[in-house]
Amino acid sequence: MDSITATTCTAEQRIVIESFLGGGDHRTLADDVLDGLTRPFKELPPKHFYDAVGAELFDQICELPEYYPTRCEREILEQRSAEIVARTGAAELVELGSGTAAKTRLLLAAMHEAGTLDRYVPIDVTESMVRASAQRLVEEFDGLRVHGIVGDFERHLEHVPPPVDGGPRIVAFLGGTIGNFTPGSRRRYLRTLSQLLGPDDFLLFGTDLVKDPAIIEAAYDDSAGVTAAFNRNVLTVLNRELDANFEPDAYDHVAFFDRDREWIEMRLRARRPQRILIGKLGLRLTFAAGEELRTEISAKFTPERIRGDLAAAGMELVESLTDQAGLFALNLARVRA
Ligand code: SAH
Ligand code: AVI
Repeated sequence: MDSITATTCTAEQRIVIESFLGGGDHRTLADDVLDGLTRPFKELPPKHFYDAVGAELFDQICELPEYYPTRCEREILEQRSAEIVARTGAAELVELGSGTAAKTRLLLAAMHEAGTLDRYVPIDVTESMVRASAQRLVEEFDGLRVHGIVGDFERHLEHVPPPVDGGPRIVAFLGGTIGNFTPGSRRRYLRTLSQLLGPDDFLLFGTDLVKDPAIIEAAYDDSAGVTAAFNRNVLTVLNRELDANFEPDAYDHVAFFDRDREWIEMRLRARRPQRILIGKLGLRLTFAAGEELRTEISAKFTPERIRGDLAAAGMELVESLTDQAGLFALNLARVRA
């Protein structure tokens, strides 16, 4: 008899990985570059940071003494995962922008402990991360199935598989990545996410909180220069993928907290005039000395901003958990009845 039951499956048999990033995705980068670099104020969306090198640099950022968000969110998850799992009864965890899933492990462990853990669905643009985390997690958690999606969490949500047996699930968006959207796009995206949630499902999302600007600016301009390397890496991505001729070292890393908008911006500032050719687009552009390219915004939140965004997306806050120092919040929300 060659039937395979869940209990006899090997670790490999419990992994499915689907990729939705093909040649078409090249077009997305090309469109984003054409659109962003021809604007009166040049900008690029942050998702293009994360090639294999960028993902590795982000991992290093998470270990930096100045970069508190990862440490704070981990502290909350270490202390409150069991409570979150008990409250939701979730059997399945869908995670947007899963990365290494290092903190997600804590939630999965709590689900395992509670006896509910069935399936993990990570979605990330970095294929190596989805594959490596899937392998590690099925080895660590007996019987866990992983359905990984290599894709864009803005464009490929329709490929998230339906919940197993209609059971409750958590859709997690950790790390404060929701802050990388501008305010209008953030609300629009939360609205899209609400459509992924059934009446018994929960959204669990991390938000960095408004605080002393000096603490925030240090987190995005660390003394070891890792964030600067992460920022400049996007130019290397354009050189490789679009046959561009940026000299990354000709740009300064800039990070400043916009006190009115309560977000931090990362920019790259040309040290001297630059003439750029983006070969695959046949696009020529120039940077004046001192001209800046915006590469990321990272919004910081107040309780009112969190509630306001959720309300605008037809959701409500169930609970907001903070770390001891009150720097970061992990929020549990659901669709308003
Ligand atoms: N959740 C992890 C990683 C955060 S870094 C943590 O909390 O530490 C942001 C992650 O989102 C990266 O792994 C990056 O590859 C991924 N990402 C960024 N934009 C994305 C997009 N549009 N679609 C899918 N993944 C994206
Ligand atoms: C992924 N995201 C939440 C990070 C942030 O803090 O906005 C990306 C990052 N940029 C610089 N350092 C980290």
